[in-house]
Amino acid sequence: MPTISRLCLLFSLLLAAPAGASTPELLAKGEYLARAGDCIVCHTGPGEKPFSGGLKMATPLGAIITTNITPDKATGIGDYTFPDFERAMREGIARDGHRLYPAMPYPSYSHVSEDDLRALYAFFMEQVNPVNRPNSPNPIKWPLNIRWPIAIWDGVFTDRVGFQPDSSQSAAWNRGAYLVQGLGHCGACHTPRGIFFEEKGLDQRKNTYLAGASLDDWFASSLRGDKASGLSSWSEADIAQFLKTGHNGHASAFGTMIDAVNNSTQYFSDDDLTAIATYLKSLPGNESPQALAAASPNARGGRLYLQQCADCHQADGAGHAPYIAPLAGNPALSDADPASLINITLNGSSRIVVDGMPDAYRMPEFRVLLKDDQIADIATFLRQSWGAKGAPVTPDQVAKIRKSSDPASDAVVVLRMR
Ligand code: HEC
Ligand code: HEC
Ligand code: HEC
Repeated sequence: MPTISRLCLLFSLLLAAPAGASTPELLAKGEYLARAGDCIVCHTGPGEKPFSGGLKMATPLGAIITTNITPDKATGIGDYTFPDFERAMREGIARDGHRLYPAMPYPSYSHVSEDDLRALYAFFMEQVNPVNRPNSPNPIKWPLNIRWPIAIWDGVFTDRVGFQPDSSQSAAWNRGAYLVQGLGHCGACHTPRGIFFEEKGLDQRKNTYLAGASLDDWFASSLRGDKASGLSSWSEADIAQFLKTGHNGHASAFGTMIDAVNNSTQYFSDDDLTAIATYLKSLPGNESPQALAAASPNARGGRLYLQQCADCHQADGAGHAPYIAPLAGNPALSDADPASLINITLNGSSRIVVDGMPDAYRMPEFRVLLKDDQIADIATFLRQSWGAKGAPVTPDQVAKIRKSSDPASDAVVVLRMR
């Protein structure tokens, strides 16, 4: 090739690839990982543009408002270099040095590899639309708004070593462990928290990891092999189907799990779903029998169930799987904390949207139709039926959630990343 045309070729290559531009493969990988991390669900407030922040999150310290992570230079993360981004993701430190509250799941994201963080960074910088939206001042009041104590918290409760592969396990197990502990941040909802809001375990070395947890008036059930309240009777294929479609023969997604299915888990590849299922199925249950009060069948609850619920869920609790959730064998009936059972009965479920198609069926709300003691009776009946092993529910437990929760929205919400 004559030198001159080589120079032209070189020149046109340079023009086609301006400094910093990434390959389509890297950008596609970054988009996939942004789905896996479900960044959009927290970083998009109601009615706001994707990733521009503004969602109010309840925490034990008070409400925290999520920030703008679009590449806007004035109000977003446009000025973040890769090391700045990596430090925010892994250590929870913003570019200007302030400590982030752990409502941002950096204790989980600290497990993400550098390669994956580079792909995420490229996606955010090059494919997310910059949005000029100044961050709202945080409503947390002095002295809890002083952020330096978080440094001590970080030192005690996060593990800085990153993801620890286990060479005695299969490649699928390790991939699943990496996704569940890292970007998937499943433990942020499913692992019980201690008095300092720390997750009690960040990987399988602790038997409290993914053992089920109460958050925002829901109970994210155990993802371990517990009988009745966990995944012991689910096959790997059942777990993958649930994450891909929001339904399977055992249960449907509801509560905050709908956000995870709608914006994140349905986008995992089949291989990654199988890997996640392989990992979860390796976690043994903690058969800690609940303090069961003498399980006398709750006759009034049984009658109310037949009147109000059996049209859809059937008298024998079989439902019409996968679309109308079976209640027989459903982990939600045996959860240590009945919050999910109470909440969905009071408020119904919001829409599962998979492949852009909203679900045909929703669980209706019974907030107006049924009183606290009636819901408590139905819940108690369900928690002692078809092999379920849950402690009875009191009207006070219902009253508390009635006060702090709202009816589920019927809106079909699809958040587009770009
Ligand atoms: C569970 C909710 C949640 C999820 C999921 C989440 N974030 Fe955040 N993130 C937050 C909150 C809350 C803050 C602000 C914390 C604060 O102000 O102390 C934040 C802050 C940040 C910051 C610091 C920016 C700044 O200047 O405040 C970056 C960068 C960031 N998140 C990136 C991401 C990325 C990338 C993902 C997905 C891989 C993600 N976040 C997922 C809640 C979340
Ligand atoms: C009109 C039909 C209908 C009626 C009536 C109904 N449900 Fe449901 N229920 C559903 C559907 C559909 C779902 C699945 C939710 C989803 O797809 O998000 C569901 C889900 C549930 C779940 C969560 C289980 C899971 O895995 O999704 C519980 C618990 C539940 N219903 C309890 C009740 C109780 C208690 C009553 C009576 C007070 C009742 N339902 C009445 C349709 C109904
Ligand atoms: C925002 C909170 C949240 C996050 C993040 C989350 N979950 Fe959930 N998950 C829940 C809640 C609440 C339930 C209980 C309601 C239901 O069964 O859908 C649940 C239920 C489930 C169930 C059904 C269990 C059962 O016993 O019925 C599976 C399986 C599951 N989640 C897997 C995952 C995996 C895997 C991840 C991480 C990739 C994850 N979840 C992340 C909140 C969350």
